[in-house]
Amino acid sequence: MSFNIAIDGPAGAGKSTIAKRAAKELSFTYVDTGAMYRAITLGLMRSGTDIEDARALEEALADIEVTIDYREGVQQVYLNGENVSGQIRTEEVSARTSACAAKPQVRAKLTDLQRGLAERENVLMDGRDIGTAILPNAQLKIYLTASIEARAERRYRELVERGEECSIEEIAKDIEERDYRDMHRQTTPLMQADDAILIDSSDMTIEEVTARIVELARERI
Ligand code: DC
Repeated sequence: MSFNIAIDGPAGAGKSTIAKRAAKELSFTYVDTGAMYRAITLGLMRSGTDIEDARALEEALADIEVTIDYREGVQQVYLNGENVSGQIRTEEVSARTSACAAKPQVRAKLTDLQRGLAERENVLMDGRDIGTAILPNAQLKIYLTASIEARAERRYRELVERGEECSIEEIAKDIEERDYRDMHRQTTPLMQADDAILIDSSDMTIEEVTARIVELARERI
């Protein structure tokens, strides 16, 4: 049987960086489910679909196929066969994904893909509803969070390093809004599973959080 690790938590808590590192140390496959939601969102943007029109959404989703594979150990995501791993990282896609991911029809489309991967191999899967809905029997569940201030500060530094102009107050506001949407949607909102271990990374380094998750996994494997 495969060993599954679920990591959920809000945007900016360091999930993907930490999940990638922990997966590498454990020789697990890292599955980034946010990338799948982003790819569907890109597809809906390209087709100009009004996602509030249930029928139009249904029809557009029927023409969207999301798949993943790995290139030198790095997850690639495909939209109808086209590798869109770079294109899903734009600010526009980021801003729209939360609303698309709130639609039950969109979530239903990805459930089988995510569960199938976890059945076949040892995965460390990160997202918002992995421990609560996708992999309720995961052998290890982590809820990784950090204060809004810590998350805004990290994002601010990232953008400044890239040479982008930004205000920390704006970033904090965006994070708060995204948290609210992800935590208050009707279908599988972001929340900590009863049996998930809470890690608050506000005052921890990436290395410390990674080491903690690897340790917790090794205790259970
Ligand atoms: O983790 P991320 O920033 O790439 O996620 C993009 C968006 O997708 C975010 O608004 C939350 C949503 N998402 C989700 O609803 N469920 C998941 N399992 C993963 C991401």
